[in-house]
Amino acid sequence: MKKVVIHSAGGFDKLKLEEHPCKDKSSLGSDDVLVDVKYSGVNYADICVRWGIYESAKKFVGWPITPGFEFSGIIKSVGDNVEHLKVGDEVFGVNLFDSYANEVCAPKHQVFHKPKNLSFAQAACFPAVFLTAYHGLFQNFIFRKKSNVLIHSAAGGVGTALVQLAKWHDCEVTGVIGSSHKREHLEKLNTDHIIDKSNEELWKRAEEICPSGYDVVLDANGVKTLKGSFDHLCPTGKLVVYGFHTMLPKGRARGTLNFISLVLNYLKTPSFNPIDLTAANKSVMAFNLSFLFERKEILSEAMQVLIDLVDKGVISGHPVSEFAASDVALAHKHIESGLSVGKIALRW
Ligand SMILES: NC(=O)c1ccc[n+]([C@@H]2O[C@H](COP(=O)([O-])OP(=O)(O)OC[C@H]3O[C@@H](n4cnc5c(N)ncnc54)[C@H](OP(=O)(O)O)[C@@H]3O)[C@@H](O)[C@H]2O)c1
Repeated sequence: MKKVVIHSAGGFDKLKLEEHPCKDKSSLGSDDVLVDVKYSGVNYADICVRWGIYESAKKFVGWPITPGFEFSGIIKSVGDNVEHLKVGDEVFGVNLFDSYANEVCAPKHQVFHKPKNLSFAQAACFPAVFLTAYHGLFQNFIFRKKSNVLIHSAAGGVGTALVQLAKWHDCEVTGVIGSSHKREHLEKLNTDHIIDKSNEELWKRAEEICPSGYDVVLDANGVKTLKGSFDHLCPTGKLVVYGFHTMLPKGRARGTLNFISLVLNYLKTPSFNPIDLTAANKSVMAFNLSFLFERKEILSEAMQVLIDLVDKGVISGHPVSEFAASDVALAHKHIESGLSVGKIALRW
């Protein structure tokens, strides 16, 4: 089998495509499913894994590591306890790392039949971002219908999923983008208001759109916008924090990390005082799904709802930019540029 292996932290040159022995039926656990992979989804978190700053990768794996949280393909073999999936089924799934490979082994509760409405490329790109969006909106607080919602990086992987789920929930959605070419994508998703930071002043425009403040702001930017996001909540508003990408470099030629700027940005990241939060009637919540893999009930509730929404045509797969697995460095470069729209997939 082929897989992408990273032996130590660094730039694009650390992504090595290697040959390793295949698994056979005798080495499968009784609840395991072995998949012949067609596509692996690429997420921004994979870049953080490569840089050696992704906490759960350090905690659960260390070096060497094969990144990747998601895949799609055809079942090759199943363990003795697997009943609802069989050899030859078209599936997609989610895994805690190890998905940048042409063969993936995952426990049965993390593998699902591929909906007809998703291509293999879209299916491989579906679970991580939609699970993040679903968890952020529906599993942390009471998300009221018709809420005013502001979504940063709205044309990206998680952003696109958030916009679709918030629209499904009858919300008035403001999507923020960093470059003008992303506008068309958000228009197709029926985003109510679009703020293009490349030619508009973010918070001035946000105040014009929603003068009384937002019910929910979803922020994976971190240092650059967290304070503004909090300040623009209405009373009872929720700031949902799920990433920190503005503290990290964008578009560096060799994909290396800048540790000095990382530390400075860390020090500049605002903290929120519970006494002030109480007086303001605002909440800040945060999560990282990669630490929640043991919480099977969270995963299965979310996947059941999401697959049903796809089957009914309420939500759809992302536009996908495909890269051959041997071009994994280019795929990382693309997402690191900050210019990507929708999702990125590796083709095996
Ligand atoms: N907590 C969790 O469980 C969880 C799960 C999945 C993802 N995440 C986080 O969610 C965020 C989005 O992930 P994604 O995979 O869907 O990525 P993505 O949105 O497809 O791409 C990242 C986007 O962030 C913006 N950006 C701002 N500063 C950037 C920088 N320095 N480098 C690159 N992009 C930058 C760019 O959009 P604009 O310029 O348009 O803003 C870019 O397109 C990431 O921070 C990721 O770590 C968290």
